[in-house]
Amino acid sequence: MKYRIQALLQEVQNLTASNKEEVEQLRLKYLSKKGEISQLFSDFRNVAGDEKRIVGQMLNELKNTAQDKLNEMKDAFDNQAGADALDLSRSQSPIEFGTRHPLSIVKNEIIDIFSRLGFTVAEGPEIEDDWHVFGALNFPPEHPARDMQDTFFIEKNPDVLLRTHTSSVQSHVMTTQKPPIRVLCPGRVYRNEAISYRAHCFFHQVEGLYIDKNVSFADLKQALLYFAKEMFGENTQIRLRPSYFPFTEPSAEMDISCDLCGGKGCNFCKHTGWVEILGCGMVDPAVLEACGIDSKVYSGYAFGMGVERIANLKFRCKDLRMFSENDLRFLKQFDSAM
Ligand code: PHE
Repeated sequence: MKYRIQALLQEVQNLTASNKEEVEQLRLKYLSKKGEISQLFSDFRNVAGDEKRIVGQMLNELKNTAQDKLNEMKDAFDNQAGADALDLSRSQSPIEFGTRHPLSIVKNEIIDIFSRLGFTVAEGPEIEDDWHVFGALNFPPEHPARDMQDTFFIEKNPDVLLRTHTSSVQSHVMTTQKPPIRVLCPGRVYRNEAISYRAHCFFHQVEGLYIDKNVSFADLKQALLYFAKEMFGENTQIRLRPSYFPFTEPSAEMDISCDLCGGKGCNFCKHTGWVEILGCGMVDPAVLEACGIDSKVYSGYAFGMGVERIANLKFRCKDLRMFSENDLRFLKQFDSAM
C-alpha cells in the first residue's frame, strides 16, 4: 500500500493537461468516489493497526497534493481564458464619437470658400448696443427693426439688445480697423419671431464685408458667383434682384438656380426656377462715414446669408427647428455629408 501511495504521489505531482476538460478527467480519475485515491481510502481499513497512523498520513498527503495540483492546473486554464478575453487596451465603456452639427458643417464650408478669396473671420458680442446694430448702419430712428416686435431688448434707454444680424460685427471692424478690410462675420442672431417650421427666434448668419479703393458692384457679383458655384455646384447660376437695406446702396437680393429641378420650376422653388439665398449691396457711404472711413477714397460691398437657409438647400431639411432640437438621430446623419 505504501508503495502504491508513493507511486501515485509521484504521478500526481507530474500531472499535465492541455485543457480544462483534461483536468476534469484527471480529477475523476484520482479524486472522484471511484477514483484511485478514494479507492485507497476504502482499502485503508485493511491496513494493520500499527501502520494505520503512518499510512493515514501518507494518504492524506497524497489526497491534498492531488487536490492542490488539480486546482492549480484548473486555475491556470481559467486565468488564461480570462487573459484571452481581457483587452487591456479597451476603454472601460465605449466612447462614442460625436458628429459635427449640420450648421457648423455649412458655416465652415462658407468660411472655407470665402477664405480662398482672402476673407478672414471676425467675431463680436451677441448682446449689443443700438449704435452697432442699427445706428452705425443707417437705420432711421423709426425703422421697424428698432421695435420690440422685431428685436429682443434687454434694457431700454440706453438700449441693450440681442443683435438681429452680424452686421453689428462689421460696425466694430470698420470703427477699429483701417481699409483694406475683408472680413466674414459668422454668428448667432436673434429676432422676435413666432417659432414655426420656417422661422425661429434665433438663427445663424455669415455676413461679409470688403472695403478698399475702387471696389465695385462687379467685384461683388464675381465673388458671389464664385461662392454659389463652389457651394452648390459648377452649373449653378445666380440672379440679382434690386432690393433695399438701410446700410447698402444699391442693394440686391441674390437667387440661385434651383438645383432640384435644374431651373425648370418645381414645388421647392415655387415654380420660379430660382431660390433666394442672400442679401447684398454696396456699403452706403453714410455707413462708411459713421464708422470713420473716408467714403471719397474707399468703397465696399457687403453681403449676408442665413446658415439655416443654405443648410436647408443643401440637406433639404423641411423643418428648421430640427437644427436646434439636439436630436442625435437627426444630427448624426450629417457626419460625412461634407
Ligand atoms: N444684414 C442683412 C440681414 O440680416 C443681410 C445683409 C448684409 C444685406 C449685408 C446686405 C448686406 O438680413
